[in-house]
Amino acid sequence: MAAVDYQDRIPNNVDLASNRRLLRALEEWQPRFLRWWADVGPQGFQARDVYLRTAVSVDAAGWAHFGYVRMPDYRWGIFLAEPEPGRTIGFGSYRGQPAWTEVPGEHRGTLRRLIVTQGDTEPASVEQQRHLGRTCPSLYDLRNLFQVNVEEGRHLWAMVYLLHAYFGRDGREEAEALLQRRSGDHDRPRILGAFNEPTPDWLSFFMFTYFTDRDGKYQLACLAESGFDPLSRTCRFMLTEEAHHMFVGEAGIGRIVRRTCEVMREHRTDDVRRYGAIDLSTVQKYLNFHYSLSLDLFGGEISTNAGNFYTAGLKGRFEETKHPDDHVLRDATYPVTAPDGDRIVTRLEPALPALNERLRDDYIADCQRGVDRWNQVIQRAGVDFRLRLPHRGFHRTIGNFAGARISPDGRVISAAEWEAHRTEWLPTDADRAFVQSLMTPVVAPGRFAGWIAPPSRGINGQPVDFEYVRAG
Ligand SMILES: [Fe+2]
Ligand SMILES: [Fe+2]
Repeated sequence: MAAVDYQDRIPNNVDLASNRRLLRALEEWQPRFLRWWADVGPQGFQARDVYLRTAVSVDAAGWAHFGYVRMPDYRWGIFLAEPEPGRTIGFGSYRGQPAWTEVPGEHRGTLRRLIVTQGDTEPASVEQQRHLGRTCPSLYDLRNLFQVNVEEGRHLWAMVYLLHAYFGRDGREEAEALLQRRSGDHDRPRILGAFNEPTPDWLSFFMFTYFTDRDGKYQLACLAESGFDPLSRTCRFMLTEEAHHMFVGEAGIGRIVRRTCEVMREHRTDDVRRYGAIDLSTVQKYLNFHYSLSLDLFGGEISTNAGNFYTAGLKGRFEETKHPDDHVLRDATYPVTAPDGDRIVTRLEPALPALNERLRDDYIADCQRGVDRWNQVIQRAGVDFRLRLPHRGFHRTIGNFAGARISPDGRVISAAEWEAHRTEWLPTDADRAFVQSLMTPVVAPGRFAGWIAPPSRGINGQPVDFEYVRAG
């Protein structure tokens, strides 16, 4: 394992220095990445000192360095988790064979597509969030936004490294295209739907990092099982950083909910908008929206591709090794839900093409845990309201439920009923305008916007009123 040279132009633990051709290719890509960052990365604040975490190694005990850095000077490096000696492929038809250190020729195109699809989400989210700095509720939150942004930039580097190092000219072309597509662009959109939606306000940002970054966690966890060892090691290290993004979302929603409950109690009313807080039913609508969009990211319930990725050893299940089965799944079944006339039915389907649905189930269970914690905040405040994950069929555009009208409580409903309740279930223009109206920046250290409670502690042992982003 090469030592990390943090002083290199591209910090890395993949011994870039000894591969001149690859080093040169990445050094040519680097200025284009920086141009992309300047063009569509965070708007403003580029000359500010931001208290950021930078990955400097993959050592579990101390992989990150915290300090002030200007975002364009962030050290976007290439870090792969340590190789596991003697690692074998854990599933599919190559199960038990040594993990691949080079791309297996017959799966080259598929593997490249998987890497590009994952890689595309990283710059997309930076683009989606680029205007949020202007309306930050505090310096603490502003810093967290930029932390997420620079790390999504590093995740792009991680995927671009794989494309450059293992996929020859096709890989280099894909690495360019990752800088050409734009979130929400009519002609050159990002690949996946949820990554073309705007993130116009901080409630959306927290929902996005809770629900959509969590989709990322599950995709990365499956790719971390891959028989292609460089991909596995890349994704394992990305997951280390990803945990913070979901923390930002969960804690952000939790603090909004806490603040709302405080206002409800203080003024003895549900009508908290008058007092500049976000009512819980609006939080629920945003939750419904972002959750349903994120469920779509897992793809169709029945997908031949999903089964093929698995059988080919490219993409495993979440925590593959913990499943007490044959890890081949040729004869296994899995319950899959679908609308059938005016009912929703669950049937056993062959397990391989149902792998998207299985992963979605893992994700749903994980999402529920955060909702439970938000509800504890509400309950402790003595407020009679519970947030809920809507039914998996609600507001879906991909898979079995696409085109069906499903209520949040999981009933097949008529078009008339859907239309009658739509504004209770999903954010309306008026809801969005109200949330937007609260988005006035708060940038004095230790101060917080009135619609969100302060966090219980600061970052890396710093106080909450630390100057996380220094005044320009
Ligand atoms: Fe990421
Ligand atoms: Fe993320």
